[in-house]
Amino acid sequence: MTNKADSLFGLDEDAQKDMLDRLREHSFALTEPSRTTDQDAPEPHGLGQHTALRRRAVTSVPEYFGSIAALPEYKQMCVQRLIAEKVGIMEPFFICHESIAKGKTRIQGQDFLNFATYDYLGLNGHPEVIAVAEQTMHEFGTSAGASRLVAGERPQHAALEKALAAMYGVADAVVFVSGHATNVSTLSTLLGARDAVYHDALAHNSLILGAVLSGAARYSYPHNDCEALERLLRQTREKHERVIIATEGLFSMDGSIAKLPELIALKQEYTCFLMIDEAHSLGTLGANGYGVSEHFGVDPTDVDIWMGTLSKTLCSCGGFIAGCSELVELLKYRAPGFVYSVGMSPPLAAASTKALEIMLREPERTSRLQALSAFFLHEAKSRGLNTGHAQGYAIIPIIVGSSLVAGYLAAALFQRKINVLPIIYPVVEEGMARLRFFLSSEHTEADILTALDALTEELPRAVEKFQ
Ligand SMILES: Cc1ncc(COP(=O)(O)O)c(C=O)c1O
Repeated sequence: MTNKADSLFGLDEDAQKDMLDRLREHSFALTEPSRTTDQDAPEPHGLGQHTALRRRAVTSVPEYFGSIAALPEYKQMCVQRLIAEKVGIMEPFFICHESIAKGKTRIQGQDFLNFATYDYLGLNGHPEVIAVAEQTMHEFGTSAGASRLVAGERPQHAALEKALAAMYGVADAVVFVSGHATNVSTLSTLLGARDAVYHDALAHNSLILGAVLSGAARYSYPHNDCEALERLLRQTREKHERVIIATEGLFSMDGSIAKLPELIALKQEYTCFLMIDEAHSLGTLGANGYGVSEHFGVDPTDVDIWMGTLSKTLCSCGGFIAGCSELVELLKYRAPGFVYSVGMSPPLAAASTKALEIMLREPERTSRLQALSAFFLHEAKSRGLNTGHAQGYAIIPIIVGSSLVAGYLAAALFQRKINVLPIIYPVVEEGMARLRFFLSSEHTEADILTALDALTEELPRAVEKFQ
């Protein structure tokens, strides 16, 4: 029996065998070579005649381990691509767009509705954002030069950090050049082998990777299940020294919201730090877009580590941590992703500061996004679509089951000038593949109806084709 979670696109064994046969035709090394003797191992793809002449010091290590083309991960990608090709699904990734990433986009000279951008509040390309980035670029160039620790700061860094800290009502903030690296670096700076991370099962890859790389113990609790988290804490908290409970505010794959008041109570009861990743909550939650603390009306200083990204609502690139001054000071001197990485490009820092200013000045952008998201959720549900855990805030998945159905649907909608990306195995488990819709305050109700009508028409065709 094929294990569904391990199967490729949920294909049955015959279909998989067929794919593997086709791959053999493409001369991939599909069977992991014998690990006993070097002589037994077949010549892996990509190693040509020259390797036979090369003298190898360690003959007990098969050359298989020196070939990227023979890596199982690479072969799996090739199989997925071949399957998609075989069933006539175009590759939906790395499509070149010819315009700013907004609610509408241009691809191959044609206008598309775009549900695959983080431009939640329509600030990407805003004239004030462009003007400040342009002016900063003329004065400070495009690069910070080197790590801020050694190369010094530019005024845009402090201005952005001050504005972020003020918004959260905390003492200080620090910006990193990547949101992903912010999580990885922060967790691995704060924790070590005697510590632990408790994270929501659906937490972002960067939180999980940060936990893994920190060397701390890692406990995953079922999505948004604070009772399960409490049970885990009761059973295991005392085994560890420092503990971080880490979760997303608004979940990026599911559009659900962390139960912040319960998490704060647990972190206080069990002496833990609480880290909230606000990548998708900033601009989308709360009357002013402050995020999940405003959504629940809790005191933001009850959260120890606010993390966010600059790549979504704040329309540039990078991440930040906001919290007490000791936290920020520690990260500025110790976090590898800050200390050993270049400072944020000054024009990008200025762009994010301006975007934050506009967000706070024009809360109607957030309310419009919230109204559109609620409209989307209501319309999707009324069409019988499966929106999973979505609560109607900016991110709404339509769960369709198999990766093939999701891929086919994305391709069908693309033909109808609607750009929405499939999220497939292994990003989500097989059977939970989906189309993920990101909404923008610049979408209209008519845009949403166009997309949902097209989806409702195409879905039965896709399901029938792959049943
Ligand atoms: C929840 C979450 N955290 C962190 C990141 C990483 O942020 P960035 O893309 O800015 O590196 C993402 C990326 O989308 C995310 O969704």
